[in-house]
Amino acid sequence: MPSVLPDGPRHPRIVQAWLWLKKPTWFLDRCSRAYGDVFTMRLPLGMDLVHVADPELVKAVFGGGTDALRGGEANAAVLEPLLGRHSVLVLDGPEHLRQRKLILPAFHGERMRAWDAAIRDITRAEAAGWPTGKPLALRPRMQAITLEVIMRVVFGVDACARRDELRRRIRAVTSVGSNPFLLIATRDRRLGPHAPWARFLRARDALRAALSDEILQRRRAPDLTQRGDVLSALLLARDDEGRAMTDDEVRDELVTLLFAGHETTATSLAWTFDLLLHHPRVLSRLRAELDCGGSEYLDATIMETLRVRPVVPIVDRRVREPTRIGGHTIPAGAVVCPNIYLTQRRDDLYADPAEFRPERFAGQPPAGTEWFPFGGGIRRCLGASFATFEMRIVIPEVLHAVTLRPASPRPARIRRESVTFVPHDGARCIVTARS
Ligand code: HEM
Repeated sequence: MPSVLPDGPRHPRIVQAWLWLKKPTWFLDRCSRAYGDVFTMRLPLGMDLVHVADPELVKAVFGGGTDALRGGEANAAVLEPLLGRHSVLVLDGPEHLRQRKLILPAFHGERMRAWDAAIRDITRAEAAGWPTGKPLALRPRMQAITLEVIMRVVFGVDACARRDELRRRIRAVTSVGSNPFLLIATRDRRLGPHAPWARFLRARDALRAALSDEILQRRRAPDLTQRGDVLSALLLARDDEGRAMTDDEVRDELVTLLFAGHETTATSLAWTFDLLLHHPRVLSRLRAELDCGGSEYLDATIMETLRVRPVVPIVDRRVREPTRIGGHTIPAGAVVCPNIYLTQRRDDLYADPAEFRPERFAGQPPAGTEWFPFGGGIRRCLGASFATFEMRIVIPEVLHAVTLRPASPRPARIRRESVTFVPHDGARCIVTARS
């Protein structure tokens, strides 16, 4: 079978790139209506994205051999300069599996349960500082919570001064690195030390230095084996041959957990509140359940938010050798993208798919690749249980601490920021009362 890319929009590549960046949901909906479950989006520099929005085909992509379809290689193109070459997100094959096996136990259920009180305290302290009676964008406030959570329970940094220093360095990276496309465009050294790329490298190196220092100090900590944080667990972890991770490996994984973990969770929380505040019936049912100590409807609310507002709309797998997908032989070099946004909005899987209805998941959690906000296969999100655990604590704590009303009559529109889908107005609301 000759390798041929599936059909797709015919606009010039630069126009498709503009639509993908600026009007992503409109463009995806349009492509899906015109070309069906599998279509090719053609972007500049010969980048061909083959979107797949059929659960059976998505399952086949996730189950496919790691060598034919490579997630690490696809991620590395954009993420390696930030995360480093040892990051689990940019590795493939045996190296990828080794890092996953070393990291996964650090997020074990029992270990996470010990973080409950810290997450509660962080949320209460944050909500106590919110002003009443004026518009408040919830997304940055959720980012403050999830960043603090990462620093305390993932990095295990106890001293406030050290957390402040780390926060400053992380902000420096995120402020200059928020537009990866601009960064890549200014990679040429001749643009001088003030170009975005050069500033990004300085901020990244400063963050790496602070983390390396933290690793050095933690290795010497007398209570290393008793500590419950992820960094300490990574330092103690051993692979199948009894080898520990090197300092550079640990550092790259810390950067990965930080950038893969805190904004995704914060944005999902912001979407949850935006949807709840615009669906008073859902909010009052949730409140009633929480007052009685239940959690089934809370879980359903989280799942429904991740369905209708997936923060990461697609995942990527680079094709190494021609691969059959849904009657097409996809050529090497293309990138196959299981499309979370489109699959989770199929009307043959979900009635009124654009509607926010947690009832659909109450008592019946989604199965298989009809719902995959955390990706899938051997690359499924390593922080999926942690993110859900955190959301299950933060949502009730916020609802308990403050009464909120939406700042605008309609739910926020979906806007792209870097590779994620975020609320266009930051999920604005107004605090009307405190408990
Ligand atoms: C609601 C919050 C989150 C969402 C929606 C999310 C989503 C995702 C997605 C879609 C992927 C790609 C999976 C694939 O390629 O199939 C991923 C990978 C990953 N995520 Fe998350 N994530 C979230 C929170 C977190 C947290 C809290 C952490 C850790 C603290 C984390 C760590 C990772 C890591 C390390 C990977 C790479 C896995 C690999 O390549 O093997 N994520 N996440």
